[in-house]
Amino acid sequence: MRTIDFRSDTQTLPSPNMLKAIQIAKLGDDVTHEDPTVNDLEKFGAELLGKESSVLVSSGTMGNLIGVLIHCNRGEEVIAGALSHICRGEAGGISVLGGVAIQPINTAPDGSLAIEDIEAAIKPDDYHFPITKLISVENTHNATGGKPLTASYMNKVRLLAQKHSLKIHVDGARLFNAAIALETPVKELVQDAETVSICLSKGLSAPVGSLLCGSEEDIAKARRIRKMLGGGMRQAGIIAAAGKIALTEMVERLAEDHSNARKLALGLAEINGIEIQPEELPTNLVFFKVPEGRSKEFATKLGQKGIKVGEREDSRWRLVTHYGITSDDIDYSLEVINNVFS
Ligand SMILES: Cc1ncc(COP(=O)(O)O)c(C=O)c1O
Repeated sequence: MRTIDFRSDTQTLPSPNMLKAIQIAKLGDDVTHEDPTVNDLEKFGAELLGKESSVLVSSGTMGNLIGVLIHCNRGEEVIAGALSHICRGEAGGISVLGGVAIQPINTAPDGSLAIEDIEAAIKPDDYHFPITKLISVENTHNATGGKPLTASYMNKVRLLAQKHSLKIHVDGARLFNAAIALETPVKELVQDAETVSICLSKGLSAPVGSLLCGSEEDIAKARRIRKMLGGGMRQAGIIAAAGKIALTEMVERLAEDHSNARKLALGLAEINGIEIQPEELPTNLVFFKVPEGRSKEFATKLGQKGIKVGEREDSRWRLVTHYGITSDDIDYSLEVINNVFS
């Protein structure tokens, strides 16, 4: 049976070139900086993002956790969107492990945090409050539909941060999707942030890994925190080899995922019972509503026909296009979805 897995871009498998690169990677002990493949990836990634340095970590969650812990000590605070991954999807790690408070604020439908909302959330200098140190934004913003945040928005966040002596962290798990959708060099999107975490997995299809990028000083701090978290890896070049292919060969092709997402969204808009606003600037996440109370039934039926959408309880669905899903797969999926829904 033909299987099309729309559950997430975390389902991507490594490309043939990644598998080849893994086989021939030169390896060493990365904890002592002796893995040439990791060193090469970290240098390349930092340059690409316009930062002085970067460090390979095991996941986006670890990148965000370390990113926050670089800037915030116990009793200090990060302001983040209430719908952000850092707030909802990382097991509260920054608070549990770092003693860092999180101040969630409203997320606008375009994935941004309104500047006035951020400003209103900054705590005054009063010992009743945690000390606000950091603003965290997510680009693209997952829960609001993969919306990209522009460089000009980031610049406004920077001006506010400067006014209050705050730092900025970007959860860039899908930053390259934003860069492709906005046709903006990725470094411009993060030039106003101190640290940025990018995922080599997800849309870029590497099997494992994220890079946390920032200044030499911040990344030196990050290495210590990574070690403390048990994230120091030895011959990590086998991960970095695929990561380098992710950054050199898999970025431009994200445009294909975006055009498949648009095609999917336009097709879904034609299907009875589906409520959707096809995005004008799509990335790879397609959100829509199915009839109330029928989610589980539809998801099960689609699953039986090889269209994987995950176990769905509520009526808001997310389908994700990624490496491994072709334009032809979209045509086929729309046909199956139409049959199941009608
Ligand atoms: C926006 C965002 N940030 C961070 C993460 C965490 O990445 P990881 O699953 O590699 O820990 C995810 C995972 O889906 C995500 O969607």
